[in-house]
Amino acid sequence: MSFHPIEQAPARLNRSELAVPGSQPGMFQKAADSDVDVIFLDLEDAVAPDEKEQARKNIIQALNEIDWGKKTMSVRINGLDTHYMYRDVVDVVEQAGERLDLIMIPKVGTAADVYAVDMMVTQIEDAKGYKKRIGFEHIIETALGMQNVHEIAAASKRNESLHFGVADYAASTRARTTIIGGVNKDYSVLTDPTEDGTRETHWGDMWHYALARMVVAARANGLRPIDGPFGDFQDADGYRAAAKRAAVLGCEGKWAIHPSQIALANEVMSPSDAEVTKAHRILEAMAEAEAAGKGAVSLDGRLIDYASIRQAEVLVEKAKQIAGN
Ligand code: GLV
Ligand code: MG
Repeated sequence: MSFHPIEQAPARLNRSELAVPGSQPGMFQKAADSDVDVIFLDLEDAVAPDEKEQARKNIIQALNEIDWGKKTMSVRINGLDTHYMYRDVVDVVEQAGERLDLIMIPKVGTAADVYAVDMMVTQIEDAKGYKKRIGFEHIIETALGMQNVHEIAAASKRNESLHFGVADYAASTRARTTIIGGVNKDYSVLTDPTEDGTRETHWGDMWHYALARMVVAARANGLRPIDGPFGDFQDADGYRAAAKRAAVLGCEGKWAIHPSQIALANEVMSPSDAEVTKAHRILEAMAEAEAAGKGAVSLDGRLIDYASIRQAEVLVEKAKQIAGN
């Protein structure tokens, strides 16, 4: 390991994260009763300008009055380039800060954006005498945010997670896409012709680089990487495929923009029983190897070593978190 220690953000289950517009209070109770891990009540892009003020009031009332159980509660504030943002922070943190776990900052572009919100939240928390510190989740969804993702990830002790906001990212980078979080057949590889002249088209994942870059920035700073929205909520298979790609790269969770996507996210982002059993077997085999003075052994015909222990421990820890939820 490097001499540089990586402090891990507080461990929270974040397999699924449900977006709920602050202007739709009729949806709040259903969200509270769902199986989702994290809920973000939205003041930003799902709320029309005329409704921002009322949405803020709805959210404050809901945070204080609804029983959200053990769910992690977040509020997505408006961007730092709008005049709504300061009131979002002041009103929500002053009036409902005790039940608020996280603030989601959209379209974050630089480390200074994080610093500005940190300064405001710190003043309000101190003035109100809150004991608990509110954490930050950042949506990486602009070219600027992606360029500065490492500085953003390191910008505050409050940082807990980075989210890939694929819809705005596509707009910001002028990517050619139509469905939020979907793929584009033009991003493909045409194979060379075989002997009989056959050629195949293999679709690629146009989001791979962006997501992988964000995962690295998150993990290098002890944060959770979370994949963002998948717009076609009728397409469960498409959602599952996108969630699996994200999970394989290291993401811990994915957004749900519709309640039907919660179960899909929880399913894909939880280790399977078979994976957990295998992880326990790896730990046992390595413990025996160590007792016998060996650093590497074979299990089921494959080599395992100390790196296998670390991978297995991650899975076992996640299974414990889910069981204790
Ligand atoms: C989320 O905010 C996105 O733009 O995808
Ligand atoms: Mg967005």
